[in-house]
Amino acid sequence: MINLIPMPENLKEKKGFFTLDLENVKAFASKEFAGLEKILGIKTLNSEDEAVIKIKFCAEEKAEAYSLEIEEEEIEIEASDRSGAFYALQSLRQLILMSEIKEDKVRLSCLEIKHDSPAYGWRGLQLDESRHFFGKETVKKLLDFMALYKLNRFHWHLTDDQGWRIEIEKYPLLTEIGSKRTGSQLHHWNCMEMDMTAHEGFYSKEDIREIVEYAKERCIEIVPEIDFPAHSAAAIASYNSLACREIPCEVFNFFGGIFPHKQGMKNWNRTLCLGKDEVLQFVFDVIDEVVELFPFGYFHVGGDEAPTYEWKGCPKCQERIKKEGLRNEVELQGWFTNRLNEYLRKKGKTMIGWNEVLAAKNIDTDVVAQYWTPQKDNNVNAHLDKGGRVILSNHKYFYFDMLYTYCTVKGTYNYSPKTVRIAEKNKKGVLGVEAELWSEWIDEENELFFKLWHRGLALSETAWCKPSQKNYGEFRKRLQQHKKIADASGFYYGDDTFTLKPNGIKKTVLAKKNGFSIKDFDSEYRLNEIMKK
Ligand code: ACM
Ligand code: ZN
Repeated sequence: MINLIPMPENLKEKKGFFTLDLENVKAFASKEFAGLEKILGIKTLNSEDEAVIKIKFCAEEKAEAYSLEIEEEEIEIEASDRSGAFYALQSLRQLILMSEIKEDKVRLSCLEIKHDSPAYGWRGLQLDESRHFFGKETVKKLLDFMALYKLNRFHWHLTDDQGWRIEIEKYPLLTEIGSKRTGSQLHHWNCMEMDMTAHEGFYSKEDIREIVEYAKERCIEIVPEIDFPAHSAAAIASYNSLACREIPCEVFNFFGGIFPHKQGMKNWNRTLCLGKDEVLQFVFDVIDEVVELFPFGYFHVGGDEAPTYEWKGCPKCQERIKKEGLRNEVELQGWFTNRLNEYLRKKGKTMIGWNEVLAAKNIDTDVVAQYWTPQKDNNVNAHLDKGGRVILSNHKYFYFDMLYTYCTVKGTYNYSPKTVRIAEKNKKGVLGVEAELWSEWIDEENELFFKLWHRGLALSETAWCKPSQKNYGEFRKRLQQHKKIADASGFYYGDDTFTLKPNGIKKTVLAKKNGFSIKDFDSEYRLNEIMKK
C-alpha cells in the first residue's frame, strides 16, 4: 500500500523494487530546475548518464503538477515548473521516510504517478504571532511541514491587539512599546486567570527576509497580514493619536474584546480613527515598508470584527461620513477598505480582507474575501456573483486552534465549498482553502503542532485532492504511517484519543478528574500531556 499524503492522482503500483543508496544519491536536474539541489541537500550531476534520479522538464505538465516513475533501474520525474519538480521530490521523500533504512539503503516499491495536480492553487496555513510570538525556528518548522504536505501559502498574522511583531522604521514605537505586554489571559475568553509573565518579541526586517527566502526555496509564498482598522490596540498603545479618543493605554493582556467590555473597560480603543488624515497616512506608510519585504502579489489587511461605537462618538469620523456622502459607520469602513485597496493596487498587490469587509456592499470586486465567520454570510455568494474571489477558512472546519471535538479531522477532511453553500456556478471564484492557527491559547511549539498535525494532514488532501479521490477511512489508515515522518522531523502530534476520535464525554470526564474544564482551549493538549506521563 502506498501511504502518500496527499494521495496522488493516477497512481499505479508496479512489480519490483528500486534500491536507493542514501549515501550516494546520483541525481540530475534539467537546467529549468537549477537550485533545487540546494534544498535536497544533494549534489546533482552535470549529465544524466550516471544519474539514478532524473528530474526533467516537460512542458505538458500543468502548473505545480508532476509525474513520477519509480522503476527498477531509475526514478524519473517530469514537471513544467519548479513547484511540480519540488512536489514530486516531496512525494519521494515521504516514501523514503516511511521506509525502513538498512545500511543507508532504502528499498522503494516501483510505481507510476501520472500528472498529479492540485485541486486548488491556494493551499494555505496561517499563524498568529501577535497573541504569542514563536520566533524564526518554529516558523521554519511550520514551513517544512507545509512543504512536505504540498501547502503553498503561509499567511502570517503579524499584528493584533496583543502585540505588534514587525519592525517598521518610520514608527519605532510599534515595536519598542507595541511588541511587549505584561501578562497573558489563560484558557478561554471568559476566564479571569492571568499568567503575569511578560511576553514580547518581533521580527526585524532581516529576519523577515530570511523567512521569505526560506519559504521561497520550499515553493511557499508568504502573505503578510497587518490587521486594520480593528485589532489595532498594540499600535494605539504605541501611538495614542491613532485612536478616536487619545487616551493613554497599554498593550492588552486580555485576548478578545468581549470580556473586558463586560467588565466595563470601555477605554480599550480597538479601532483606528478613520476621520483623521494622519491615520490614513500612517496606514499607507506601514504598507510601504511591509510591501518591500514580501514579493508575493497578495496583501492581507484584516478588516475583521470592527466595532463601530468609537466612530459613532467621534466628531472626525462623523465629519468623514458626511464629507464622503456615506450613510453610516459600516460604509465608513467600506470607504477605508476601498482606499486601502486602491493604494495596494497601485503597488501591484491584490488585497485580501476577512469576509466582514463585504458588509459595506460597495466593496471593489477585485478584493479577495477570506470567509471565516461561523455564521453564514450571504455577502460571500453575492461577491462571487459579481466576479469576486474568495479563500475558504470556515470556522468549524479550518480553525485549528479550536478543540478537536468541535473542528474535527473528519470535518476538515470532508469539507468542500458545498459544505458552506458556495453555489456551483461560483466555484471558479474559489482560490482555495486555508487553515488558521490563532494563538490566544497556544503558547508553545508542541501545542501548536498538537493542534495542527492531524487536521493539517486532512487539510493537505482537502486542498490537493479532487473530491473523487478522497476516502476518509482510507486516509485514517495512511495517516498512521505518517507518525514515522513526524517522529523523524520533530513534528509533535497528540494521541489519537484526543485528536482523531472526538469522544467529548470521555474528555469531559477526564478533564474534570484533573481539575479543569473541557471548555478550556488547551484542555485536549493538557490531557494529552497528563496521559503521556
Ligand atoms: C477572525 O477570526 N477574527 C478572522
Ligand atoms: Zn474617529
